[in-house]
Amino acid sequence: MYCCIHNAKHLEAAVDLFFEDEKIITMTPCGHQPIPDNCLLFDATGLVLMPSFIDAHVHLREPGFEYKETIESGLTAALYGGFGQVMCMANTNPVNDTAAVTSFMLQQATTSHPYGPTLHPIAAATKGLAGTELAPLGELKNAGCVAVSNDGRPLASTEIMRRVMEYAADFGLTVIDHCEDPTLAPQWIMNEGEVSSRLGLKGQPVVGEALQAARDIMLAEYLHLPVHIAHVSSALTVDVIAFAKSRGIAVTAETCPHYLLLDDTALEGYNASCKVSPPLRAAKDRAALLKAIQDGTIDILTTDHAPHALHEKLTSMDQALVGFSGLDLAVTLTWNLVRENLLAEDALHRLWCRTPGQIFHLPTNGFAPNDPADFFLFDPHVTWVPEADNLYSRGKNTPFLGQELTGRVKHHWLKGRQLF
Ligand code: DOR
Repeated sequence: MYCCIHNAKHLEAAVDLFFEDEKIITMTPCGHQPIPDNCLLFDATGLVLMPSFIDAHVHLREPGFEYKETIESGLTAALYGGFGQVMCMANTNPVNDTAAVTSFMLQQATTSHPYGPTLHPIAAATKGLAGTELAPLGELKNAGCVAVSNDGRPLASTEIMRRVMEYAADFGLTVIDHCEDPTLAPQWIMNEGEVSSRLGLKGQPVVGEALQAARDIMLAEYLHLPVHIAHVSSALTVDVIAFAKSRGIAVTAETCPHYLLLDDTALEGYNASCKVSPPLRAAKDRAALLKAIQDGTIDILTTDHAPHALHEKLTSMDQALVGFSGLDLAVTLTWNLVRENLLAEDALHRLWCRTPGQIFHLPTNGFAPNDPADFFLFDPHVTWVPEADNLYSRGKNTPFLGQELTGRVKHHWLKGRQLF
């Protein structure tokens, strides 16, 4: 069917977007091209047109922790949140270290969401994420995995990390590296600094992240292999990455909306809902991360969507599990950086779509002829309050719950089909 999204706003211009079946035909200035009689017209006046985003770092909890999230509910949150593709981590039960688990995940995704969003599993780097024996990466790639990670169980052994990078490279898979020196400050609760001292809570210093990032970046340089640094939280790690890029090392990096919007003062009053790994850092780290997404030192945004049940967060600071539910809110939260003139609208497309597509070799919509017709319309003016009953994820654990936000995804098309 020939369709036209009429009079949408795209990078400050009014446009008409023509597409047929699964493909973009053309995008023109509004009114530039006559709309044929047989064309299905969608009036997008007042709405912002964006390409469907990629979230390269989510936890969908299935198999094993379906009470927190299922692939069905996680992909629904992705769809309503503006994401057309999500990459899910391997910390399920069983861990995604066999082709059988990968195939199960993909089957759950296509059964529950036959028209998308598309799920891309990430292979465990080591069996059971135990950090000792390599997982069968060739088998996992053949089953459909698009990257490799030991997820939140950072590899203590440099030898194992080296072997993972070499083995992953044999199959063209990039290693996603949760950087945390596991021997430094075990059982930390938050960032180590003035706030943790005041609260009397055990902190993890920023070097806990930067040390491991530096180690793995040096390995990447020595081996001439790529490494992708996950959810960067600190200014020191940004400096390490900038240094690596200046040396021409094949390092890429991500950060998440919460590190751009919150700092460790959010934990004051012993607010366990703000406990996350890596922890929210100091205000100066937040400022450095914002600069790093503006200047490209940090390449992409991800949510690190980590849904948990309420009882796992509404507990004491030491018992509360780490992580925030992110898929429902990420586009709204980062759109607000655009609204506040902290980020260009095109940078949002770069950080959430173009560059993750390049790093992980995934197709993206650049609104050029023949690109996939994957896009959403965003209402930039609507105000709404995230509550347990209006989030699609089973995880209601977001620090933004109950806060009035501006802007929300209103309609989403994947493969040319309007899914809401
Ligand atoms: O806060 C987090 N939660 N960070 C991680 O790296 C893991 C995640 C989870 O699985 O809950």
